Amino acid sequence: MKHTIIAPSILAADFANLQRDIEMVNNSEADWFHLDVMDGVFVPNISFGMPVIKSIAAHAKKTLDVHLMIIDPDRYIKTFADLGTNILTVHYEACTHLHRSLQAIKAEGMQAGVALNPHTNVSLLEDTINDIDLVCMMSVNPGFGGQSFIENTYKKVKQLRKIIEANGAATKIEIDGGVTNKNAKQLVEAGADVLVAGSYVFGASNPIQIIKDLRKLTTI
Ligand code: DX5
Ligand code: ZN
Repeated sequence: MKHTIIAPSILAADFANLQRDIEMVNNSEADWFHLDVMDGVFVPNISFGMPVIKSIAAHAKKTLDVHLMIIDPDRYIKTFADLGTNILTVHYEACTHLHRSLQAIKAEGMQAGVALNPHTNVSLLEDTINDIDLVCMMSVNPGFGGQSFIENTYKKVKQLRKIIEANGAATKIEIDGGVTNKNAKQLVEAGADVLVAGSYVFGASNPIQIIKDLRKLTTI
């Protein structure tokens, strides 16, 4: 049986009740906290930064999966390591020297992730796949929660799974954006290992139950 990792995205939490929402994730069947950092330059939105992540880290009892949607992410690798990040993901489109960025993330003791925008072909990772712990495949254009899932993602997941297998890599595939009970199972069947869910979880009246349902749906 395959255990799919469920990662609620804190972007959709109630920031005035952040500790309550963090405790909810702690007490749920979710595996990771997905934290979206946006700079208003790489993406047309600004989310939250270091002080907020520091407060989240003080209460979170699960893996911190930080998704940087910022230009020139190398400048902040050490800062995010010091904040307690377990997995640090940079965007392919924001890195001039991706291989160097991956090495720098690992040198700080974190797992290294690469995020791909919907238009970025997975074949561009063929030469670095063995250095990547996680590919965060964007299934919406990055910048906002609550957008509709892009159907072309299934094809990309299958293509990436082939590249991972052909290279004997241990890379996990994470899907980020528009994940709901309508696409979760099909994504896992296509080869996804991690599902990020923001508005679907935090917009529900019973998020604990929604996480439980996602877990059930994706244990195949
Ligand atoms: C989008 C972010 C996502 C977002 C997902 O730029 O990277 O992590 O929070 O939110 P939903 O699940 O609402 O699409
Ligand atoms: Zn994200």
